[in-house]
Order: sequence, then C-alpha cells, then structure tokens
Amino acid sequence: MEKVVLVTGANSGIGLALCERLLTEDSQLLLCLACRNMKRAEDARSALLTSHINAHIDLLHLDVGSVQSVLAAAQELKARYNRIDFLYLNAGIMPNPQVDVKALFKGLFSRNVINMFATAEGLLTQQDRLNSDGLQEVFATNLFGHFLLIRELEPLLCPGGQTSRIVWTSSSNARRSAFSIEDIQHRNGMEPYSSSKYASDMLSLALNRHKNSQGLFSSVICPGLVMTNLTYGILPSFFWTLIMPIMWLIRIFTNTFTLTPYNGAEALHWLFVQNSESLDPRAKYHSLTSGLGKNYTQPQQMDIDEQMSEILYSKLLELEKVVRKKQSEGNVDK
Ligand SMILES: NC(=O)c1ccc[n+]([C@@H]2O[C@H](COP(=O)([O-])OP(=O)(O)OC[C@H]3O[C@@H](n4cnc5c(N)ncnc54)[C@H](OP(=O)(O)O)[C@@H]3O)[C@@H](O)[C@H]2O)c1
Repeated sequence: MEKVVLVTGANSGIGLALCERLLTEDSQLLLCLACRNMKRAEDARSALLTSHINAHIDLLHLDVGSVQSVLAAAQELKARYNRIDFLYLNAGIMPNPQVDVKALFKGLFSRNVINMFATAEGLLTQQDRLNSDGLQEVFATNLFGHFLLIRELEPLLCPGGQTSRIVWTSSSNARRSAFSIEDIQHRNGMEPYSSSKYASDMLSLALNRHKNSQGLFSSVICPGLVMTNLTYGILPSFFWTLIMPIMWLIRIFTNTFTLTPYNGAEALHWLFVQNSESLDPRAKYHSLTSGLGKNYTQPQQMDIDEQMSEILYSKLLELEKVVRKKQSEGNVDK
C-alpha cells in the first residue's frame, strides 16, 4: 500500500529538500505539500515533478499560524485520505531576528564559534507579536498550529492496527533557559523561537507517552545550520557570502554545519526508513555532515523534564478548548 506523507512548510528550504528525497526513496508515495501560499506550493510541485514525472503530489492550503486555516485543512484532509503514515511538522518562522553583532564578531574568532552558530546562545533575539487569534505568532506557528493539526487528525494518525509517525523539525537553538512553563507562549521574553522549539521537544515526548499505545510515534530532529530563507532573514545575504569561506573551513572541524537543505533534511529522511520501535523518545536526531561531505544522523539525549512536558501537554489541551470555543462563537456571530 502506498504511504501517505504530509509535509508542512514544503515549498522551500529543508521541507522542499525533504520532499525531493522522499520521492527518490519511494516512488509510490502519496505526498501532500501543505503550504500557506498556493503559488509557491504550485511552483514546488512543478519543481518536484521535473525529476519525478509520475509522482503523486497533492497540494493543501494550510496556514499553521491560523486556527481557522488549521481546522479547515484538517477537514479537507479527512475528506481526502483515510490515514496519514507520516506527518512532517516542518513549517517554522523566526520573525524580526536581532543579532548581537558585537557578540557575533567576538564569537567568530573564539573557540566558541561552532557552538555559537549551532545554538545561537547569547546571539539571537526576536520581536514577536500577536496574531489574529490573539496568540503569540511564533508559538502559534511553530508549535500550537501543529498541535491543533495533530489533535484534529487523530482519526487518520491512529487508525486501528497501524502505526503512524510525526516528525518535528526542531533546532539546537531549543534551550530550556528560554522556556517558561508559566509563559508557554513566551509573551514576556525575547527568544520566542528558542522557546517554541524547546516546547516542541517537550510536546514530542508527551505525545509518545500518551499515543504510543495507539500506534502513534513522535520524533524530533535538528537539521544543523542550513542556508535557507530563514537563515538569510537573520543576517543579510552579503554577510553570509562574506563569512561563507570561514563556514566551509569550520565544516572541516564540525559536523553540524550541514549548510545545504539536502544535507539538512538527512535526519528527516533517515527517520522515514526507520522502524518506530527502534526510536528513542528522548532523543533528538541530528542531521550531520562530515568535512568530506558525508551525511549521517546521530541521536543526542534531550535536556527535558518529564513532569514539565506533561504540564505543557495539559496547558496545550486547555488552550485548545479556549480557541475552539472562540472559533465556534465566532462562527455563530457570523
Ligand atoms: N535553516 C536552519 O539553519 C534551521 C536550523 C534549525 C531549524 N530549522 C527549522 O527548519 C524548518 C524549515 O525552515 P527552513 O530553514 O527550511 O526555512 P524556510 O525556507 O523559510 O522554510 C520555512 C517553511 O515554513 C513555511 N511557513 C512559515 N510560516 C508558515 C505558516 N504560518 N503556515 C504554513 N507554512 C509556513 C514557509 O512558507 P513560506 O514560503 O510561505 O514562508 C516555508 O515553506 C523550520 O521549522 C525552522 O525553524 C532551520
């Protein structure tokens, strides 16, 4: 039976590279590109079809940052498919990034340079804002919209007797110090991206605890440092061009500078060919590229508290109730 695979944020960067790799791995795949911009989704499909002429590629409109869009997309998916084998939660944003330029230059010529690029610790802040649902935009896009999607798709993700998989594109920037269980949306901080990625690591653990018995397995990956629209939004492209020779040089000494979307998608692809039973729920799977350009995947234990992940899960369920209520009241008003 053909596998049904849905990828959010599939029209560029790591998501698009993943789609290319999945179609190369399995030509029978039924691939659904879930994107907020249908023109970009069409372009992505056309690009994929040039190298995979007979591929079965569907498009779905999905803005993960909008409750209404997530609910509508889930309805559409339930009408189209009777199961989803793989749900890749890859869409993500880092709006208005601010780089501490002084710390960057200091770090560039220090021993900490590799860790600095891998985790952006002490280097990167963002300015978040409220979206039209009254949620913090980064939280809503990177975490909550995906959570709501999973909740809506449970009938397709947990069909009796079969296993399904969820894979989150997290980051090494996910740090416990940026997250507060009292402020899960990160209303009061300057690192909403790091907070949202740490929350996705915790949510993945909680999902495994609650859903493994029903055949649903969740994993998180870090793609390494990859040159995509997201990274070009952090620093101007001329700056990246300027430091690229240093980056390629550093790549000889570290394996976390994957640099290309193809390399960054390594762990996402690797997970596709693994058995769910062999996965470690506490591991983050890292895409790595050696100095000689060899790609591989390595698990690393996450710095996560079971109890806190459970509290986060309960808080997300509570918030889900609130947004659903608001949504239904809104529909009644109309
Ligand atoms: N690049 C890195 O070094 C790096 C490192 C660690 C983790 N990551 C993670 O990797 C993932 C992919 O990012 P990328 O680096 O490949 O950057 P990218 O090229 O900017 O891709 C991000 C994708 O997410 C989509 N997206 C953003 N907001 C969305 C929304 N509200 N609804 C639906 N789709 C939305 C974008 O669509 P549009 O084209 O419409 O904007 C795009 O397709 C992200 O989760 C990111 O946090 C990246």
